[in-house]
Amino acid sequence: MPLISPSLLSADFGNLQRDLEMLNNSECDWYHLDVMDGVFVPNISFGFPVMQAMAKHAKKPLDVHLMIERPEKFINEVKALGAKVMNVHYEACTHLHRVVQQIKNEGMMAGVTLNPHTPVSLLEEIIGDLDLVMLMSVNPGFGGQKFIEHSLDKTRRLRELIDRTNSHALIEIDGGVNRQTGKQLVEAGADVLVAGSAVFKADDPVEEVHILKHL
Ligand code: DX5
Ligand code: ZN
Repeated sequence: MPLISPSLLSADFGNLQRDLEMLNNSECDWYHLDVMDGVFVPNISFGFPVMQAMAKHAKKPLDVHLMIERPEKFINEVKALGAKVMNVHYEACTHLHRVVQQIKNEGMMAGVTLNPHTPVSLLEEIIGDLDLVMLMSVNPGFGGQKFIEHSLDKTRRLRELIDRTNSHALIEIDGGVNRQTGKQLVEAGADVLVAGSAVFKADDPVEEVHILKHL
């Protein structure tokens, strides 16, 4: 059974408390918070003051996805949110090994995210240090995009790398996840599914979380 991490990027920003309380009463496992800086990705979402406000109403762990340059500058701020997972992009970290150790030293799960074009094989030397690898199955920056089919093969390759190296890293997939792609991803070895529009655009978001959880 996968962990489900609904992305608040697709929530109603005028009603964040209402949407978080709705998710508190769903079967979801984490809350996925997408931070964008307008530099690493061509969009800006929300920052720490908004996430602090969200954290007050969230009854489940926060899964923070930093789509920003130099994410290591904000390890203390992410820690102060009480986040469980801090996801940084492979493409944004020159000294990835150091950043991963710093995140773990703060007691958070260290997640490394790969853009669609970044090969899984680049993680070979660091996979043993990671708590989570997140594969982008769309180009980051926007919700509601179409799932890139190639991500299924990539998920299988990541599963193979993790199993071969006895890594404990979880596999999380972000972008275009719905009932159909979600089922295929779980079969390919995914542990955590992020879903934004599939949950929030559904007629009944709580029921949609239930369906994703029991794919
Ligand atoms: C994209 C974000 C995703 C996004 C997913 O840049 O990282 O988390 O919210 O949205 P959907 O599920 O609609 O593709
Ligand atoms: Zn995300």
